[in-house]
Amino acid sequence: MASIAKTVVATGASSGIGFEAIKQLLTQQQPYRFILGARDVASTQAAYSKVDFDKSQHSVAVLPLELSDLKGVKTFAGQVLEKLGQAEKVDYLMLNAARNHGAEEPGPGPNGSKWCESYIVNHLSQHYLVHLLRDKLVASNSRIVFVSSGAIRMVKDPGTLETTLKAGSGATGHVVYPASKLAALLGTHWWRRQLAGLCTVVAVSPGLIPGTGLSRGANFTLPPELLKDAKSVPEGGANVLRAFTRDDFPDDPDRIFLTSWGEWWGREEISVSLDKELQDKWSPGREDIEREEGVMGA
Ligand SMILES: NC(=O)c1ccc[n+]([C@@H]2O[C@H](COP(=O)([O-])OP(=O)(O)OC[C@H]3O[C@@H](n4cnc5c(N)ncnc54)[C@H](OP(=O)(O)O)[C@@H]3O)[C@@H](O)[C@H]2O)c1
Repeated sequence: MASIAKTVVATGASSGIGFEAIKQLLTQQQPYRFILGARDVASTQAAYSKVDFDKSQHSVAVLPLELSDLKGVKTFAGQVLEKLGQAEKVDYLMLNAARNHGAEEPGPGPNGSKWCESYIVNHLSQHYLVHLLRDKLVASNSRIVFVSSGAIRMVKDPGTLETTLKAGSGATGHVVYPASKLAALLGTHWWRRQLAGLCTVVAVSPGLIPGTGLSRGANFTLPPELLKDAKSVPEGGANVLRAFTRDDFPDDPDRIFLTSWGEWWGREEISVSLDKELQDKWSPGREDIEREEGVMGA
């Protein structure tokens, strides 16, 4: 007898590691229903139509999502909820989308924001999406998988985020990307605290995967000493998928970061993200986001 389909809502599954992770789920016997947000719906649908999977078992729906546009994020969330209806659960929310660009362009940022585009895409809009889906996620007892990065450890002083992540800060991708991923990890901890006992919240690193589109058009090169640890895109996808199933959570509730080699990082490795005041600061409420980013009336 076929088992009940599990529903996955995901960002960043149009290419790279996210696409690979979904492709791997499409090979499983377990039926899945995917609702994916993508900038280019047609090319994403075309990419999935080339994947050989059992269409009687799995389904893939692609909805428009441009994460630099918070009004569009609100529209996307509304469409997701409409598609799900009252009855259907969200088993997994995978927040994987990211870009790796600096803030060298003069401000303001997208839609007049004080923040640079990488911060909005990598953190603010996906944090806002969790707010918008919150009731459904709670009702579903969902697992929320935030795709993070070991690059967060490149931020030595989190006090610099405020300046670095502003539109037109002049900071390069080398600085903005780790800072934006740290902001996202602070938000991940905040959601873990908010949703304790209601949802499972996990951060995961895919590892160093040079063969993706992450640094497209960015002035960003990896030092050769890092490249020796590089993994393939399929390995990156598999590493992310571990966060869907691992249940051996450490007793310490702050240890939510699953490394690409499958260990839960200790407090010292993620110490920069453990300050609760900082988590609160980088986790604005839904109304604050809507007011500050002009989302009202969307
Ligand atoms: N590659 C690595 O070495 C590495 C290491 C550690 C962590 N990570 C993390 O892994 C995740 C996936 O990265 P990747 O390497 O697979 O990069 P990628 O190939 O560039 O994939 C990024 C995904 O995010 C989407 N995206 C980017 N900007 C967007 C926007 N404005 N609106 C909507 N979607 C947007 C992309 O859509 P398009 O297809 O439209 O571009 C794509 O689906 C990221 O969270 C990244 O931080 C990667």
